Amino acid sequence: MRRAWVSAVLTVSGASCVLPAYATLGGVVDRIRIKGGRELRGDVRISGSKNATLPILAATILVDGPVLLRNVPQLKDVEQMCRILKRLGVQSHRHDNGDLEVEAVDKTFYKAPYDLVRTMRASFVMLGPLWARRGIGELSYPGGCVFGHRPVDLHLKGLEAIGAQIDRHDGYVTLSGPVRGGTVFMGGPFGSTVLGTANVVMAAALSNGITYVEHAALEPEITDLCLFLKRCGAQISGIGSHMLVIEGVESLQGCEWTVIPDRIEAGTFLTGAVMTNSDVRVTDIEPHHMLAVIDRLGAAGANLEMGDNWVRNVPTETGRVLAADVTTLPYPGFPTDIQAQYMALMAMADGVSVITEKVYPERFMHAAELVRLGAHIRREGPCAIVQGTSILAGAAVMASDLRASASLVLMGLVADGQTDVGRVYHIDRGYELIEKKFRALGADIERIREG
Ligand code: EPU
Repeated sequence: MRRAWVSAVLTVSGASCVLPAYATLGGVVDRIRIKGGRELRGDVRISGSKNATLPILAATILVDGPVLLRNVPQLKDVEQMCRILKRLGVQSHRHDNGDLEVEAVDKTFYKAPYDLVRTMRASFVMLGPLWARRGIGELSYPGGCVFGHRPVDLHLKGLEAIGAQIDRHDGYVTLSGPVRGGTVFMGGPFGSTVLGTANVVMAAALSNGITYVEHAALEPEITDLCLFLKRCGAQISGIGSHMLVIEGVESLQGCEWTVIPDRIEAGTFLTGAVMTNSDVRVTDIEPHHMLAVIDRLGAAGANLEMGDNWVRNVPTETGRVLAADVTTLPYPGFPTDIQAQYMALMAMADGVSVITEKVYPERFMHAAELVRLGAHIRREGPCAIVQGTSILAGAAVMASDLRASASLVLMGLVADGQTDVGRVYHIDRGYELIEKKFRALGADIERIREG
């Protein structure tokens, strides 16, 4: 019986991402080693949001004068975005207190080549700002990814609707012409697009007209970007709703801004607390950004308390986890970025659960690695069917992407014996000091540095 489950999942798609350039600079062969079975206890402070920081950094292309950003996480993706921006004339400097000062000092560059863009898909969000502020934006298409096909058609459709003349050549896309404004519909087959909405909103902020963005992404990271742009002088209304109205202005000025907390990091730690039946409080968060996750953890039997800026998992007497189905959806639905971690939770639940991926139907690479730790997971198209088990045992596993690596770390916390998670550079892209934070809570976890 068990063999059948295992062999079925090994047929999961084999697409892969290009190795990030910084992976070759060191840390590529590091592993995270976890010895499972420890109970956790205490508070864990959640860092600033990676996915809010990246578009805000791109937005600094639009701004005249220095921008001071607070609560910016120290992550590889943030470093890489700053490196790409530097090549485009945007300087950044990290102060001793962690604040990041950013300023566009040379506004002549408009092209981001493939060797830069391929290192981070999110850099495609610089296209709109380059075009709007510098008259031309030229970026390489980002290419494939471990989640399967990730097109940028909606980004380009939106930018075209507000005036972009689009030229496609040799794997590049060039935008030119005046930013006029217009009416844009951002919906696609999997809902709205987060970075596509960001691209259009940023370009529209410096347009000659009014832009109506219908079916805008509702993610808190988009709200944070819009509020940041407003602080710089942009005219945006309808923030937080499906319809954004942007009245173009001539220029934007630098400001100070505090990035929102990372709801995905918070959800990851909370899921880990539930899996280990531990008394853990995730702090410095915005609980209202994670109600879908709180709802599903509750359905899985967790006993959660919520304060103004924290959520606490109160251990239950039995520590039992119940099987509870989940479907990922655009915000305010359950985030695709916590699907892998939730799958690790369901792998130890009593009963069978169905996990349906409606944002990235191919995002199941982690399933095969969870199986190596004893999970029973069967893939059926955009669904994974998880038969919970109490027999989970440590092994050497490989992370395929950022959130996959988080799910493997969580599973390592409960599996018997030792789990070695390889390709740690994935986790360093999006989790600040993950092993230190878990160790401070009492986990037996360390980074093995090699090479
Ligand atoms: N899509 C299209 N056409 C487009 C753009 C997107 O069909 O032009 C589809 C995608 O293929 C996907 C869906 O729309 O099926 C949603 O993709 P979206 O564009 O919203 O994703 P994104 O903006 O590229 C951001 C996050 C991802 C997160 C997704 C969904 C950043 C830097 N990235 O990506 O975060 O999974 O939204 O919430 O904000 C992560 O942090 O691990 C991560 C992958």
